[in-house]
Amino acid sequence: MKRPFAMLTATAHAVPKRVFKNDEFRSIGVDTSDEWIQERTGIRQRYIAGPGETLTSLSTEAAREAMAAAGVTAPELDAIILGTASPDRLLPSTAVEIQAALGATRAVAFDVGAACSGWLYGVQVAEGLIATGSYETILVIGGEQLSRIINWKDRNTCVLFGDGSGATVVKKATKGRGILSAYMRSDGTLADLLQRQKGAGAAPITPEIIAEGSHWITMAGREVFKNAVRSMADASDRALDGAKLSAADIDVMIPHQANIRIIEATAKHANIPMEKVFVNVDRYGNTSAASIPIALSEAMKQGVVKEGTTVMFVAFGAGFTWGSMVVRF
Ligand code: UT7
Repeated sequence: MKRPFAMLTATAHAVPKRVFKNDEFRSIGVDTSDEWIQERTGIRQRYIAGPGETLTSLSTEAAREAMAAAGVTAPELDAIILGTASPDRLLPSTAVEIQAALGATRAVAFDVGAACSGWLYGVQVAEGLIATGSYETILVIGGEQLSRIINWKDRNTCVLFGDGSGATVVKKATKGRGILSAYMRSDGTLADLLQRQKGAGAAPITPEIIAEGSHWITMAGREVFKNAVRSMADASDRALDGAKLSAADIDVMIPHQANIRIIEATAKHANIPMEKVFVNVDRYGNTSAASIPIALSEAMKQGVVKEGTTVMFVAFGAGFTWGSMVVRF
């Protein structure tokens, strides 16, 4: 059996109403500046969930739009896969909540825990399910409400992240169009560099944990940065090798939107000019698993990605997890 087995069809996204600009951090007592954030990360603003906005509500909104564009109804979905690191509840999965909200009665629904690589892992799991011949139509969502799991007093992390959700309908490939190469890697020996150390099974939540804030995200920024650049370079090489293509064959690169400097280093390594790289980290911040599908949704709406476009996706996140795909739309 040979690729492509699966193709990405419609993609849509949803974000909270509230825009939070860099300047606003000072007003909540964070010692930072718009200048620092823009220079070190490229971020100008991010969206932050308000009361009543949840991962389920945002993801359901994105899913409905993607399904309408793909001409797919809820009962036709065979599976719903949600990549997330910030579920609405620790139990059950948020995917089953989305299933219920959509009325996708036949779909098997589950979350994928791969942090910022969650959507990319989810698409590759969907591809595998479709390759079995038992699944035809799968909704893959990358969604986060990171604003609810960051420490709003920690300037090393709170300026970086944003909320949102992106949903893609994955179907059986039609001739020549679809996923041409797919690559996933993990390295759990580096898990401590980007984590929520306590507050779950190994260290259940206590008043002490809440007081010290060890249930929030912590990150060794410089180490994560170096690993992100190295791993995304590796992943972009694998994507091209797997698809037997060269950099010149790629029309658009959609990397995980963590930091403009990481994006630029990845593009440089892959020999893809920045004009071909889709960037929206300036408006959304790092939305983890949602970042690639939000970017893909915007790229499709703008006509940057359309039928015939060859796209390289590259992701990296906590774990560490990383991976890539080349897709012909
Ligand atoms: O989604 C995948 C996972 N995440 C990432 O890929 C993020 C990877 N890391 C990064 O993007 C960067 O490491 C950061 C943006 C987090 C930090 O940039 P950096 O250039 O690596 O800065 P740094 O950590 O080396 O810190 C430089 C200085 C420090 O001050 P000193 O020790 O040199 O006096 C920090 O305390 O900047 C200080 N700093 C800040 N200053 C103002 C750190 N955060 C801030 C802040 N505002 N928000």
